[in-house]
Amino acid sequence: MYPESKKLSLFLETEEDTVKFGRALSGLLDKGDIIALQGTLGSGKSVLARSIIRALCGQDEEVPSPTFTLAQLYQSNTGKNLKIWHFDLYRLEVPEEVFELGMDDAWTSGGVSLIEWPHKIGGYMPLVRLDITIDVANNKDGKPLAREVLLTGYGADWINRLDQLQKIKEHA
Ligand SMILES: Nc1ncnc2c1ncn2[C@@H]1O[C@H](COP(=O)(O)OP(=O)(O)OP(=O)(O)O)[C@@H](O)[C@H]1O
Ligand SMILES: [Mg+2]
Repeated sequence: MYPESKKLSLFLETEEDTVKFGRALSGLLDKGDIIALQGTLGSGKSVLARSIIRALCGQDEEVPSPTFTLAQLYQSNTGKNLKIWHFDLYRLEVPEEVFELGMDDAWTSGGVSLIEWPHKIGGYMPLVRLDITIDVANNKDGKPLAREVLLTGYGADWINRLDQLQKIKEHA
């Protein structure tokens, strides 16, 4: 059975807004968190992941898109001492390949996992997680900058944290 959930939607008008949202979210992260980043090619999944990783590991951190390596590991330099795994599963051929990439290590060792193209591993995704779905909005002037983002948090911890994000949003 699916755990209880809460949804929160955000409108991120520019790339800088996406980066700011990543920073806000990074402050709420803890060991074992799993974030599924969904959205079409070029929607901003890696921009968001990079912002989260830089907020936790330092602004100078190189964060390449793991398009070919499929997985990159980072170590935070903040008090929480988090290991952060950034996965891009787009090129995964079969779901079981994720175990060669160390996905289960990431989960059992209490790392934070940021997972692009999570549906590639279907039923292996843990149920307690945050889903972030990014849609490219239709801008009137033809410049596809704005993003509509839907957050779905599963489980009491994520519901709590989405409440906190909602307060940040209301006071922004
Ligand atoms: N509001 C916005 N938020 C995020 N990215 C934006 C925004 N507006 C424009 N962009 C641009 O959109 C692109 C997003 O690219 P990114 O690599 O993050 O996409 P992706 O979803 O990870 O794609 P892929 O599926 O190929 O991994 C970047 O070129 C970025 O500059
Ligand atoms: Mg990407």
